Amino acid sequence: MFVTFEGLDGSGKSTQAELLRARLEEEGEDVVLTREPGGTELGERIRDLLLHGGHVAPWAEALLYAASRAQHVDEVIRPALERGASVVCDRYVDSSAAYQGVARGLGLERVLDLNLVAVGGLMPDRTFLLELDPADAVERLGSDHDRLEREGSAFRALAASAYRDLAARFPERYVVLDATRDPDDLAEEIHGALRVRP
Ligand code: TYD
Repeated sequence: MFVTFEGLDGSGKSTQAELLRARLEEEGEDVVLTREPGGTELGERIRDLLLHGGHVAPWAEALLYAASRAQHVDEVIRPALERGASVVCDRYVDSSAAYQGVARGLGLERVLDLNLVAVGGLMPDRTFLLELDPADAVERLGSDHDRLEREGSAFRALAASAYRDLAARFPERYVVLDATRDPDDLAEEIHGALRVRP
């Protein structure tokens, strides 16, 4: 089972990914929890360039996220799935589709195509979208903003609307949840949704 979490920064994805990992491990499953950008040594270096460096041209940004993802799939995600583990990943292809494809304006289809090449067609079985009003997302951010978090409200609103479009386009794998709900309730619903195998 390959599960991804998506949503704006501040939506609580990382918390839910961790709660799901803990719950599945308690049930005796072999679980790999990982995140993007990052998840490998090369990926963490790319993450640093993307989030804490200077200006990155839009296509350079899309290609760096895709490069990090290609390495991540090759080194971590595919081997884990092949040995029968479940993979829980905080952000994946849909993040690039929403942020680089739509918010940056590079084109959803072009960024999706680029990423499908990078990951050799490997897409998640389930994607949980933690939906949050872009205005609430800003309030939930801490004070130490990375390069992407410093983008304005228009950028965040575009990413949020792109996520809604992606959920409508891929209803067989998307589960859309209200990120403002109680975290334990959300965790319960997420766990329950996985029992209905896609
Ligand atoms: P994330 O790790 O979720 O942020 P944090 O460390 O603050 O929890 O993601 C970092 C930023 O990268 C986030 O603003 C979204 C952006 N991003 C993209 O623009 N495209 C992508 O493909 C990915 C994976 C992330």
